[in-house]
Amino acid sequence: MKIDAVTIFPEYFAPAQLSLLGKAQSKGLVDIQVHDLRAATQDNHNTVDDTPYGGGAGMVMLPEIWGRVLDPLIVADTDLIILTPAGKRFNQEMAQSLASSSHLIFACGRYEGIDDRVRQHYESSEYAAKNVRVHEVSIGDYVLGGGEVASLVMIEAITRLIPGVLGNPESLTEESHNSEGYLEYPNFTKPQEWRGISVPEILLSGNHAEIAKWRELQAIERAKKNL
Ligand code: ADE
Repeated sequence: MKIDAVTIFPEYFAPAQLSLLGKAQSKGLVDIQVHDLRAATQDNHNTVDDTPYGGGAGMVMLPEIWGRVLDPLIVADTDLIILTPAGKRFNQEMAQSLASSSHLIFACGRYEGIDDRVRQHYESSEYAAKNVRVHEVSIGDYVLGGGEVASLVMIEAITRLIPGVLGNPESLTEESHNSEGYLEYPNFTKPQEWRGISVPEILLSGNHAEIAKWRELQAIERAKKNL
């Protein structure tokens, strides 16, 4: 999978070199390229934003610069993801669907976001005919300083679903076996007793059917409590 991230803060993406994602890149399963939006500016002040038409607080990112950076990146079969708190809520199902894409572009807006004509332009029939799909996505009901952290969240959730990325693919099978795909039962390891709290007896029984039943109940209880 090819991933392009466009941002005015490329340094935000340093964690993409670590852990599972770093390994996935060394193995050639994922290729992440980070592009500095400001490098595409042509004025002395490297301006990326301006005041909104119609008035109001904040600044809006200039369409001209976004177009200049996105045009060469957007090829056939691309999912363009525009991060915004006003987008569709990201969840495991969306991660699953995007994991089969060959090319993701993350457009990280800052300030009051990107001029909406950027979305409109790449949503046009000309791009749709080339299988370019545009998604406005939010990772949750809160406002971040920009789309960079949201992109990292999405990249981590999506890339771990790519075959070969997880060291132990059984964790994926287990996740998808339980009802929502991400309801987890509580886990325990050594020692058998810690600060007076014992590991539930059933987990030591060796009775796999009973353990599975217990875990399912626990997962449901936990989900109810955290609703
Ligand atoms: N940019 C600012 N807040 C965001 C959010 N919650 N999700 C995605 N992008 C954002």
